[in-house]
Amino acid sequence: LNKRDVVESILTGKPRSPGRSGQAFAAANIALCKYWGKRDEELNLPLTSSLSISLRTHGTTTDIEPADADEYWMNGERLAPASPIFQRLKEYLDLFATETPLRVATQSNIPIGAGLASSASVFASVALALDRLFDWRLDRRALSILARLGSGSACRSIDGGFVEWRAGTDPDGMDSYGAPLPDRWPELRIGLLLVSKEAKSIGSRPAMKRTRETSVLYTAWPDQAARDLARLKEAIAGRDFVRLGETAEANALAMHATMIATWPPVLYWRPESVEAMRRVWALRDEGKAVYFTMDAGPNLKLLYRETDQAVVDGAFPGVETIAPFA
Ligand code: DP6
Repeated sequence: LNKRDVVESILTGKPRSPGRSGQAFAAANIALCKYWGKRDEELNLPLTSSLSISLRTHGTTTDIEPADADEYWMNGERLAPASPIFQRLKEYLDLFATETPLRVATQSNIPIGAGLASSASVFASVALALDRLFDWRLDRRALSILARLGSGSACRSIDGGFVEWRAGTDPDGMDSYGAPLPDRWPELRIGLLLVSKEAKSIGSRPAMKRTRETSVLYTAWPDQAARDLARLKEAIAGRDFVRLGETAEANALAMHATMIATWPPVLYWRPESVEAMRRVWALRDEGKAVYFTMDAGPNLKLLYRETDQAVVDGAFPGVETIAPFA
């Protein structure tokens, strides 16, 4: 089964000629229980379920309109056809087999270089903008599946709030999509901490493949992910912040441990990352409930409650705060 078959099955009976334009915003998301490892690389089907929280205000707006030739713009800059991002977008848009060339412009308000799952908000907003351009009126589930074909974590960016991506078991992935949890938690805060702007050495896609293939620690990952997912859902349902923070931090560190044990090794941390982790742990030694999570990059995302905003601002000057449920 390939991506094209999945798209065709979703678009059966849907309009195929574009309107004048389609625009949509999708927020980025941060996984509290990570997606790391695929059971199907073509369809971005995960080995384990994952759970994320939306960055609500931080993400990508995409505008799509018919054009004379395919033209892609990112943050105001036209992409060269030879560039890898152009190629990746083109490969994605070609799945929809529209006869019309498209002008696609994405604008992201996530700090550049934050390694902040920008591909998630890009592909989710592209899927949403296509839905509007063609007036498909797809449901959230179908949109999530289409976003996943662009980037796995994008399937968690169709909805806001907490989103659970159930791994599913169908070979065609029709049961593998992001579904929002009903819970709202207005006191939660996320702090974006840029510790290094250095380009990462390896993308998450090849890194997770290498981990799955060579890391002896990866054998423990599916059990850990299942346990953490259950704990996080309990923590969310019971508004137990300490449990949420501890579980998310442990999950991120375990994911990084699987990477470090790959060969050749994958280590995204910079000295500044470790320094920031130690500062978080020092705050906890002082009794402050501040935790972190990290993705495939050197930067930290802090997790804390509104009441600790001053503590976080004091310890991490320049941190960018997001209120995911405000
Ligand atoms: C570390 O979704 O970028 O951010 O499916 O290959 O596009 P592809 O990978 P991607 O991987 C994200 C990995 C992560 C963890 C997460 O977001 O769950």
